[in-house]
Amino acid sequence: MAVTARPTRSATKLDVTRIRHDFPVLSRTVHGKPLVWLDSASTSQKPRQVLEAMRVVYEEHNANIHRGVYEFSERTTAAFEDARAAVARFINAPSPREVIFVRNATEGLNLVAYAWGRDNLRKGDRVVTTVLEHHSSFVPWQQLAKDVGAELVVVDIDEEGRLRLDQMRAELKRGAKVLAITHTSNGLGVINPVKEIVAWAKAAGATTIVDAAQSAPHMRVDVQDIGCDFIAFSGHKMLGPVGSGVVWGRAALLERMRPFLYGGDMISRVSIEQTDWNELPWKFEAGTSAYVDAIGLGAAVGYLEDVGMDAIHEHEVALAARLLPQLVAEDGVTVFGPRDTRDRVGVVSFDVKGIHPHDMATLLDREGIAVRAGHHCNNPLMTRLGVSATTRASTYLYNTMEEMDALVAAVRKAKKVFGI
Ligand code: ALA
Repeated sequence: MAVTARPTRSATKLDVTRIRHDFPVLSRTVHGKPLVWLDSASTSQKPRQVLEAMRVVYEEHNANIHRGVYEFSERTTAAFEDARAAVARFINAPSPREVIFVRNATEGLNLVAYAWGRDNLRKGDRVVTTVLEHHSSFVPWQQLAKDVGAELVVVDIDEEGRLRLDQMRAELKRGAKVLAITHTSNGLGVINPVKEIVAWAKAAGATTIVDAAQSAPHMRVDVQDIGCDFIAFSGHKMLGPVGSGVVWGRAALLERMRPFLYGGDMISRVSIEQTDWNELPWKFEAGTSAYVDAIGLGAAVGYLEDVGMDAIHEHEVALAARLLPQLVAEDGVTVFGPRDTRDRVGVVSFDVKGIHPHDMATLLDREGIAVRAGHHCNNPLMTRLGVSATTRASTYLYNTMEEMDALVAAVRKAKKVFGI
């Protein structure tokens, strides 16, 4: 589906005004102020093109997929499989059969831990991960390691919030069965050099799982270039509907794995004695898939490609470049994570001395600004930073420079309210 705003793939500047017209919710007001949506790391807003793709299914040809030989079912099945092909192209997967639709990144990462991990991780094996992980990338491996008696190795960050690559390399040299790593931190915005780290892990013989929940929406992600074995991301953080997500895996691994969930559609034949599994990717898609959401995700991917992932990344770096120095210069404000724009996305976590993040988020809301306050599903990182919570602003393609300035002005106003 054509995107209304159509800067070319090579564009270096987004036409944000035109893009914003595609997002109905962005014209809303909150407490009488224009909405400033700075919580896209939590969930993104949706363009009309995605809503329209889903409306078309529900209003024009809704039918369950893979189960009917009639026109509606065939049309819906074709749209669902087209969405899979779109996602495969988006991440440069060698084949759509390696793209499995799940509900979100969390389900995708659990699928790998259950369906691959349970049959492959053994007592004494080492699972190497990082303190930057979101809980959905960390807890499945923490629990599995406990269950089987494997060792969990957590690589630290430096004072800037960047991953300690020296430590990562040394730990992988000591041997690893699994590397579970986030591409981009949802707490600090740092981009990990996953291609390099995956190569070290491969040399150690590890299976590599990349959490791309915060990277796939914001920058070019190429699974073949990264060289990992599995990658997972959520659709709702990348303009798609809630309930859509993807786990990609190498066919050779997926073929050897047992299914994650049992039920309809993932079987080829069931008898009283035994069950044979369906082919990839359907072996991992038990029950009625959230097919309308997957079709919506296909439209979201088309939208992102039309705008251009490099242009989106460049735009968000420019937003961070506008915001960071202003926050850093503000008395009483601590910015967590890198204060420069090298290898980062538009996630900016901060704290204002004397104002709890929840109070800050409430005061920002009075100005129409939505940010997230809390631990960001990232307790080990908060512990490492020595805080219980931060205030986090996170950007996307629809944010403007003026919104960065509005955030800074609102932080100043909040300081005045607290007499700081
Ligand atoms: N994982 C989401 C976030 O970082 C919910 O906010």
